[in-house]
Amino acid sequence: MKSLIFLLLAVLAKLGSSLDVTVARSYAVRQYTLLSQQLSNDDPSSGFITTANPLNAYWDKNDVTRWTVGFYGGSLWTLYKLTRDNYWRNLALEFQERVKERQYDTNTHDVGFVIMSTFGLCLEYTTGNENIAVPVITQAAASLASRFYPLARVLRSWNNDEGHGGVPGEVKVIADNMMNLELLFKAAELTGDRIFSDIAVSHANRTIEEHFRPDGGTFHVVAYNETTGNVQRKYNWQGLRDNSTWARGISWVIHGYITSYQKSNGTFPRFLEYAEIAANYFITRLPPDFVPYWDFDADFETTYQPRDTSAAAIAAHGLLTLYTVTGNQTYFDTAEKIMENLISEKYRSDGKPEYKVSSIFVNGTVFYHERNTNTAIVYGDFYFLQALDLYIELTQ
Ligand SMILES: *[C@@H]1O[C@H](CO)[C@@H](O)[C@H](O)[C@H]1NC(C)=O
Ligand SMILES: *[C@@H]1O[C@H](CO)[C@@H](O)[C@H](O)[C@H]1NC(C)=O
Ligand SMILES: *[C@@H]1O[C@H](CO)[C@@H](O)[C@H](O)[C@H]1NC(C)=O
Ligand SMILES: *[C@@H]1O[C@H](CO)[C@@H](O)[C@H](O)[C@H]1NC(C)=O
Ligand SMILES: *[C@@H]1O[C@H](CO)[C@@H](O)[C@H](O)[C@H]1NC(C)=O
Ligand SMILES: *[C@@H]1O[C@H](CO)[C@@H](O)[C@H](O)[C@H]1NC(C)=O
Repeated sequence: MKSLIFLLLAVLAKLGSSLDVTVARSYAVRQYTLLSQQLSNDDPSSGFITTANPLNAYWDKNDVTRWTVGFYGGSLWTLYKLTRDNYWRNLALEFQERVKERQYDTNTHDVGFVIMSTFGLCLEYTTGNENIAVPVITQAAASLASRFYPLARVLRSWNNDEGHGGVPGEVKVIADNMMNLELLFKAAELTGDRIFSDIAVSHANRTIEEHFRPDGGTFHVVAYNETTGNVQRKYNWQGLRDNSTWARGISWVIHGYITSYQKSNGTFPRFLEYAEIAANYFITRLPPDFVPYWDFDADFETTYQPRDTSAAAIAAHGLLTLYTVTGNQTYFDTAEKIMENLISEKYRSDGKPEYKVSSIFVNGTVFYHERNTNTAIVYGDFYFLQALDLYIELTQ
């Protein structure tokens, strides 16, 4: 009788999930097998893949200083997790050596993205590599922590000499910065040094005060006055306008708050509360195919507006994580719908005969104002693989 009930439950659980994970996984493996073979012919000094015009077979590359350089490694690690095939593990181990030097980078908050998608996943998905990963993660966290500005209680995201609408005398924080706190929580856990998690908590806490609007939407940039620590101005860089909600910005916020809630062991209920506020904003404004336009305030009713598949993939992983914490079915169902639509002909990289790129998705928006739209994006693929892995854990 007991086993019958378990069988019934297992059948029900299966019925409850509608994404064909076998198809999704083998498609992703096929695309990245092609990509990894193509890249194996390249001189490593040619740089790191970031984005690609789907009509080209080759990805555009950047040098090691870019914020995106770790994500291909993150996809290699996640493919290893999804397949347990050492092909991916060996590539991932080899690849992460190429970004290792970034552990010393004190010039940007993005060191969290770079190191957690490589050495962070190495530590999580393998055993026996602690001696490689732990020192790199700890050093990277120290580099990030050096950017803490106590007067404003935040980490500085962008340096003032970088442009980005900056003026001297400001500490600029972008919504994206929420994603890099996981590095600090991890370092606190590994070293027992609470300074790392105290900084992460302080940053997340102030970001609640300043980046959220009453409707649950989020500002992209908040600039603090360097001498007073007060807010100087709130403005936009990658979104439509100063008071709009840039789709990827709020995806980072959903993901960043639920991760911060989890990694601070549930100590700060506000982090969960604001992850849900951002998620609710995101969910209620999605178009019928669940893949957001590049900005939630873009005029999609009268003019063509590009989507951002990367924002969709980041949010899918964030929403599945929210589901694991809250059990709220809406988060699971929305994430599933996002993933089903992403993997459909409309957005996948073999969806049209003219597409040549070896990626998982097209139709990402890197930077609307630079006309960098409808591209493959390395982090869109990565967060989808992360979401797929969690989806499989929850359903199989
Ligand atoms: C910061 O605040 C001080 C004191 O109010 C002011 O004098 C200074 O101009 C502000 N800095 C900037 C960059 O506006
Ligand atoms: C979070 O911010 C609130 C108000 O801004 C403050 O009262 C509280 O002490 C802060 N908590 C932490 C842990 O920083
Ligand atoms: C943003 O500001 C514009 C112009 O002031 C206003 O028309 C619009 O309603 C505002 N949008 C939001 C989301 O606050
Ligand atoms: C969360 O719990 C883990 C395991 O007990 C611990 O190592 C870590 O320091 C805790 N993190 C925080 C921010 O309290
Ligand atoms: C579940 O999440 C949805 C979307 O944010 C929200 O509208 C709903 O109230 C939540 N349900 C519960 C029981 O919290
Ligand atoms: C996706 O990108 C292609 C060009 O690469 C474009 O033709 C198509 O309209 C885009 N899809 C959407 C939904 O915007």
